[in-house]
Amino acid sequence: MTKSVTVRVPGKVNVFLGVGPREFSGYHELATIFQAVGIYDEVTVSASESLRITGLGPFANQIPTDQDNLAWQAAELVARACGQEPSVHIQIDKSIPIAAGMAGGSADAAATLLACDAFWNAGIPRDQLDAMAATLGSDVPFMLHGGCALGMGRGDVLSPVMIRGNFHWVFAVFDEGLSTAQIYEKTDELRGLDFETEPEVPTELLSALARGDAPALGRLLHNDLQLAATVARPKLGRILEQGIDSGALGAIISGSGPTCAFLVRDESSAIDLVLALKASGLVDDVLHTHGPVHGARVISTSR
Ligand code: C5P
Repeated sequence: MTKSVTVRVPGKVNVFLGVGPREFSGYHELATIFQAVGIYDEVTVSASESLRITGLGPFANQIPTDQDNLAWQAAELVARACGQEPSVHIQIDKSIPIAAGMAGGSADAAATLLACDAFWNAGIPRDQLDAMAATLGSDVPFMLHGGCALGMGRGDVLSPVMIRGNFHWVFAVFDEGLSTAQIYEKTDELRGLDFETEPEVPTELLSALARGDAPALGRLLHNDLQLAATVARPKLGRILEQGIDSGALGAIISGSGPTCAFLVRDESSAIDLVLALKASGLVDDVLHTHGPVHGARVISTSR
């Protein structure tokens, strides 16, 4: 009998986020390129009398501990699929900033799907896990997948993307998050009712990824949600500019923000940028890491 299962799951940045018009469902058709980056949460599932969530790490007190947490819903889905009671303790050791545009909540949901599947020895086929992930949220399938992928539909219809080498990233993070739903709404408002353009990933960007060409990728970073995020929080525009002035190859809001993502040439430029952003006093914290990295993986099982 399994005592506990721990899954490690990364955060993500969208190196391209093209957003189409709002559909009848309220969602938007996307054309996005996700890249998983090396900032990780660890989710441990163990036996409990009832379903409960606890948090660890610097953001522990901001983690929802009820059914609002997608991880809770993920445990219920797996329990239903394999005929178990969802009585597990989900411990989330959190390093991915919350409500930051880095898919932290979706990452925990993906990790919980995998952890519960292993904990109950359910053997749910991968395509079924992917379908369950998509019902939880648009970013959850990618957090299972990891690496670098094209996301179509709501961002949940994935195909792999050719990528060479490693890209270095610096992230400026903030204690106060932004609401994804509100940033999409603001984007619609700024574009007006007659906006009809379908999103498309430029082939130049795909070839920059395939060549491992960081300067070209830096120039091609694009996010259709960026304007709304910088209108909602004007200092984000100044921080993006400061990153470029301090040597970044490109700067972009990550997902719906507020995290600002900077692509840099190498480790040493990353350290220079971290110091410059910290000295600006405009950001709450600065992280640096690389991508792509793998998606959710079981890292330990205790029996
Ligand atoms: O799918 P998820 O729950 O992560 O989405 C959060 C919110 O983001 C949705 O309620 C919706 O307002 C917005 N969204 C959207 N179009 C997408 C993905 C998300 O409008 N493709």
